[in-house]
Amino acid sequence: AQSAKESLYIVSQFAATFFVKQLWETDEGKSIGLSYFKERGFREDILKKFEVGYSPDVWDALTQSATNAGHNLEFLESTGLSIKNDNGKIYDRFRGRVMFPIHGFTGRVIGFGGRTLKTDKNVPKYVNSPESEIYHKSNVLYGLFHAKKAIRDLDNCYLAEGYADVLSVHQAGIENVVASSGTSLTVEQIKLIGRFTQNITILFDGDAAGIKASLRGLDMILEEGLNVKIVSFPDGHDPDSYMHHVGAGAFKTYLENNRKDFILYKANVLLKDAGDDPIKRAGIIRDIVESIAKIPDPIKASVFVRESSSLLEIEEKILMSELNKMRSGKV
Ligand code: CTP
Ligand code: MN
Ligand code: MN
Ligand code: MN
Ligand code: MN
Repeated sequence: AQSAKESLYIVSQFAATFFVKQLWETDEGKSIGLSYFKERGFREDILKKFEVGYSPDVWDALTQSATNAGHNLEFLESTGLSIKNDNGKIYDRFRGRVMFPIHGFTGRVIGFGGRTLKTDKNVPKYVNSPESEIYHKSNVLYGLFHAKKAIRDLDNCYLAEGYADVLSVHQAGIENVVASSGTSLTVEQIKLIGRFTQNITILFDGDAAGIKASLRGLDMILEEGLNVKIVSFPDGHDPDSYMHHVGAGAFKTYLENNRKDFILYKANVLLKDAGDDPIKRAGIIRDIVESIAKIPDPIKASVFVRESSSLLEIEEKILMSELNKMRSGKV
């Protein structure tokens, strides 16, 4: 007999195939799901590569189809694909959404993200699979299976926030991209990237939440001993919207020309609020040194001290003594 875990993989693959069929072969899927993707500017080859799909807008289409095919309801429930309500009625978690299957890094389907097509603010934009025996979201990076070879070859990993970002960056011909999708960045995710490269370039959204997440993310990455750069996007764009806004060629050039190292990025973000206020400026210097203090390698850290010294026009030895105080836990 197969293990329970194996059954969860099998039923997840059944669901992925079901959603793909719905998208490409049914009237509802084509007129609602596929036209949605096309309106957003996604190419067919990208939709096929990532095996996106559509969940019909009815109560139990997947549950019916899977149980008819002989799949055990118990496994549908353990993956969260089917839900039993208080009256014992079974329904599908994903209904009337475009579907992004999440692959583990060996390529097996382990979960899903489903995006609503409604603009109603009361409907959650994304519904995701719950944690299960095969899906631990803090250990998963969306797109890693499709990116890992390119990450290794190019020795860099672009890290975005969302599903659509990964697809659009691929569509621009850049394959070394993953997303933290459905969770804020975790240490496990950084360690996972670290198996393929020591270099991460953050591509978070250009909104307030994205900037905040970038600042948090860069400290976490430095703490894991990896190198981090940041590309930010103008006017609240995210990588997906910006790629479609400027086109693939210009997007690629933008990524190449706008990679900032973390000190420059932090200085830019923080100096914007500080203006000429000397107290605020001093706070920024401490803030930057705080990030440098997270770098485990002292030689690397000293290189960044030198860089900050010239950028912020502060004597290197003052920064160095600040750094040493932080490292010895006195601050
Ligand atoms: N997310 C989520 N649940 C939500 C909102 C967001 O799980 N209610 C996750 C999704 O993985 C999403 C990512 O956070 O892709 C980034 O969120 P956001 O920027 O709001 O969405 P986008 O990825 O930009 O989605 P889209 O372009 O489809 O609007
Ligand atoms: Mn697959
Ligand atoms: Mn956002
Ligand atoms: Mn976004
Ligand atoms: Mn987006």
